[in-house]
Amino acid sequence: MVTIVIDGHKVKAKESSTILENTQELNIDIPTLCHHTDLSPFGACRLCAVEVKTNGKWQLATSCNTPVEHEMEIRTDSDLVKESRKLTAELLYYKYPTTEAVREVARKLGVQTGEEKGEGHDCILCGLCVRTCREIVGVSALTFQDRGRGRDIDEPKIEFDPNTCIGCGSCAYVCPTGYVKMEAVDDKRIIWNKVFKMAACKVCGRFFAPEDQLRYISRITDVPFSELTTCTSCR
Ligand code: SF4
Ligand code: FES
Repeated sequence: MVTIVIDGHKVKAKESSTILENTQELNIDIPTLCHHTDLSPFGACRLCAVEVKTNGKWQLATSCNTPVEHEMEIRTDSDLVKESRKLTAELLYYKYPTTEAVREVARKLGVQTGEEKGEGHDCILCGLCVRTCREIVGVSALTFQDRGRGRDIDEPKIEFDPNTCIGCGSCAYVCPTGYVKMEAVDDKRIIWNKVFKMAACKVCGRFFAPEDQLRYISRITDVPFSELTTCTSCR
């Protein structure tokens, strides 16, 4: 354990835990858009800014991916912190003015939001889908493509690999903006424009999972495919 100081209070913290993990334990409200407790930190949205004293000087840091150090001093509610979060929210709002997840966080941080028409479902590049696919599902059908040397793209984007995707839909569940659409049509599921054939439960007949997903589970668990074709309600 190490000792840290959050807003003037000394607290014990686990070594290599993040600032955000510790503030959450203390029920300190810090806005986040790209953070999920079950996923590795990504540090993309910068809404979780706090101030950290480094070499005697206060500096802004993203709390979700900054590990604590012994005797670290942290401010979560200073004027600079509030200003930084509001500015970040403003920039996000100007970029994605009709996307509700962005509007909500912007309003919460004091940004005046207008009455934009329609509801947007922009990709805000939070990376939650990419990390869920890789770290929870273990598939890596989504990758984050950033601008960079030798990369012929104007804007960062999420790339989908149809040959790897098993159609589980985890990315659609975790996406905070509704950008990832998942549709069910008869015995088909459509996601990232790829059509998956759904398996019917051999007891109740309900279409409950893509065949590709069951094949994947069968492969990694050695359970025969035929034993996986009963839905959870009928087991
Ligand atoms: S598709 Fe959704 S979850 Fe994935 S990066 Fe974009 S906003 Fe985030
Ligand atoms: S929650 Fe920390 S950068 Fe997004």
